Amino acid sequence: MAECLAPVRAKGMEKIMKIAYTIKEVREQVKAWRKEGLTVGLVPTMGYLHEGHASLMKKAVEENDRVVTSVFLNPTQFGPSEDLEAYPRDFEQDCRLCDSLGVSMVFHPEPEEMYAPDFCTWVNMEVLSSTLCGKSRSTHFRGVCTVVSKLFNIVTPDRAYFGQKDAQQLAIIRRMVRDLNMDIEIVGCPIVREEDGLAKSSRNTYLNEEERKAALVLSQSIFLGEKMVKEGETDAAKIKAAMTARIESEPLARIDYVEIVDGLSMQPVDTMQSPALAAIAVYIGKTRLIDNFII
Ligand code: PAJ
Repeated sequence: MAECLAPVRAKGMEKIMKIAYTIKEVREQVKAWRKEGLTVGLVPTMGYLHEGHASLMKKAVEENDRVVTSVFLNPTQFGPSEDLEAYPRDFEQDCRLCDSLGVSMVFHPEPEEMYAPDFCTWVNMEVLSSTLCGKSRSTHFRGVCTVVSKLFNIVTPDRAYFGQKDAQQLAIIRRMVRDLNMDIEIVGCPIVREEDGLAKSSRNTYLNEEERKAALVLSQSIFLGEKMVKEGETDAAKIKAAMTARIESEPLARIDYVEIVDGLSMQPVDTMQSPALAAIAVYIGKTRLIDNFII
């Protein structure tokens, strides 16, 4: 597969997009760019790329001389009963998208390249990862912080791009960078939605036709909460109750959480004032989807 994919020529460009499978290849390339005085942006992903990922890459291409997109389905952020094996993959399509957007290098390591058999060093964040998604996915953010730290160490980017779609992840990465003095600017990018409002996600592909319709209840609940805030409601309990009722009106939906938290500490708040985050996780059938809005 490696040979048939690399290198891909970007349409209308002189540049050739590289596909790197090893840490060594990435380091050598980044070193060469650094010698030329070029800036480097990093967009970490787990692949099966869609317009949400594309928005991050577009911004990164605008703001940096070279952009690296990592496509790595990170096993350590999945729990034993989660969807690692079923997670959708289409690396060729991912490469085509990256290439069309002007990405300079795709980093696509095997799990063995990233994790030695006796790997035992973790980046574990306390407090921020104990609420919301951290409650039901106890080792998830340990896996995320660890792999993102590793990617930062491998690529040494000037900037790294993350979506607001995963609001808790973004807050955690920002805090990690601050707490561990990583010299990287974290750029947050807005949620990209389908035309009918559903937040784009690689996991949307799990939904059958009926579930896809039912999944709209997530964005409807988010828009309802946003509207209440715009109309002057500041009582977090009232907003939470209205959002919950909207989700519960859909028989295929099962709530994991509906929470209003401080956007920095991820701890619950009573009043909806900046920087508050309203975040939801809802099962539609077996598929767990998330959405949020911030003030
Ligand atoms: P993944 O789910 O592939 O998402 C990669 C990046 O794309 C994340 O920063 C995510 O917030 C962003 N993203 C996904 N859907 C989006 C949407 N609809 N609008 C805007 N941005 C969106 O998040 C991960 O991978 C992993 O946890 C990772 C950070 C790569 C670590 O393994």
